[in-house]
Amino acid sequence: MRSIYFLLNLLLLFFIFNKLSLVYTKEALAELWDVEDSELLDFFAIEKKLITIDKILQPLIKEHILSFGGTYINVTKKQVFVNTVDHSVVPIITNSAELIHTDYLNFITFVTASNSLVTLADRFLKIYNLIKQFKPKSIQCYINMELNNIVIRHSQTINNNEFLNSAREYNPIFIQPSVNFPHPRCKEGITQFPILRRNLNRKILSGEGLMNLFKREECSVGFWARDNNNEELNYIVTAGHCSIKRSRLAGTENFAHISWDSPKLNRLGQMVDSDKIDRYDFGLINITDSIYLQSMTTLIRNTDSKSFAELIMEDGIEMTSYGSHVCKSGWRSHVTCGYIKGLGTITTDSKGRAFKDRIYYGKSAFQISCAGDSGGSVYSYLQDLETVGLSGIHLGRFGDFSEFLPLNIILSKGKIKLVRPSH
Ligand SMILES: *[C@@H]1O[C@H](CO)[C@@H](O)[C@H](O)[C@H]1NC(C)=O
Ligand SMILES: *[C@@H]1O[C@H](CO)[C@@H](O)[C@H](O)[C@H]1NC(C)=O
Repeated sequence: MRSIYFLLNLLLLFFIFNKLSLVYTKEALAELWDVEDSELLDFFAIEKKLITIDKILQPLIKEHILSFGGTYINVTKKQVFVNTVDHSVVPIITNSAELIHTDYLNFITFVTASNSLVTLADRFLKIYNLIKQFKPKSIQCYINMELNNIVIRHSQTINNNEFLNSAREYNPIFIQPSVNFPHPRCKEGITQFPILRRNLNRKILSGEGLMNLFKREECSVGFWARDNNNEELNYIVTAGHCSIKRSRLAGTENFAHISWDSPKLNRLGQMVDSDKIDRYDFGLINITDSIYLQSMTTLIRNTDSKSFAELIMEDGIEMTSYGSHVCKSGWRSHVTCGYIKGLGTITTDSKGRAFKDRIYYGKSAFQISCAGDSGGSVYSYLQDLETVGLSGIHLGRFGDFSEFLPLNIILSKGKIKLVRPSH
């Protein structure tokens, strides 16, 4: 009997290690696309082409919003899918000057759909009004392009019945999200509590840890930014909820940097008091006077990659295609990737406050982020595995969906600009 238990344990260990090694030996993006690292460049080329085609298609179908229900890409299938309500309009699109003499048509599939863009937008607006009226707690609402419908994600354990029953009128799909594949890093506790110590040689990269020295809670470095009107003012952007909301202390809390591989803390500076902390959930740590300003980089930490441990953040990039990839680097789960699931969304928090225009990303049934990753940089690979464009900062997770705040909102509302690499 004993030996059986021993064998079982051994087997279990084998599976656990196998799983860990699966997570840590491949590039995170290869994990998402379920390909080998060696195939990634080919897949980049395919994705890039599909996004280009999708960018041509989107304005074309907007001229026929009653006939089409939106587009999404699928890299595995090498296709851009166009939800089509009225197939008689398809020739107008395929004969358009932008498409007719290209091979792009081989990459487009018109799929039959029942809801047009007008129907979807109208129902979305009506459901938004119900959200404002009933203030449901901890829900996510977005247009799911593959399902060609509005999806409301909610938790079984929270009573939002009034809202959910009213929303039924608009035939949305209700989903209670779940995770079948938790991220192994998210289960680990902090083994060693970091100690405050000066460490001047250390570079500071996006995705590394931040600690709120008052709350003793961790977050992640988003990116390095400067004031629009005064180059001398330097900030680290992170999630607003890393700060204490609506308290006398907001604006005086000190933050420190924690590297992924060293249990030492470097005191950076204080979070600037601002209404953006609550309103949009981003905050600025003022590092203007910090001795660590010289340690700031425009790199993203990707230690688990064999070849590209530091990623070069070239510029900002806007996400436009459902189904395209996006990755995040964060203190707890490091680099993980997901597909763009929702563009233009409504999220409510545990108090029922609504937030618009966050972007949902994820891999179905997988957990790709956890507490401690908040604020971490969200980016997309440009043409190789080393240069990336910044898309925003990670804000949180509900089941298998993670959320990020788009860069353009942070830059415009924060009146700041992204610090770019000096060539
Ligand atoms: C793309 O298509 C593949 C093959 O049918 C499917 O397994 C996968 O879930 C799709 N990807 C996305 C992001 O929907
Ligand atoms: C950041 O710190 C600098 C130097 O102490 C200060 O002059 C500036 O006002 C601070 N910025 C904000 C927005 O608080």
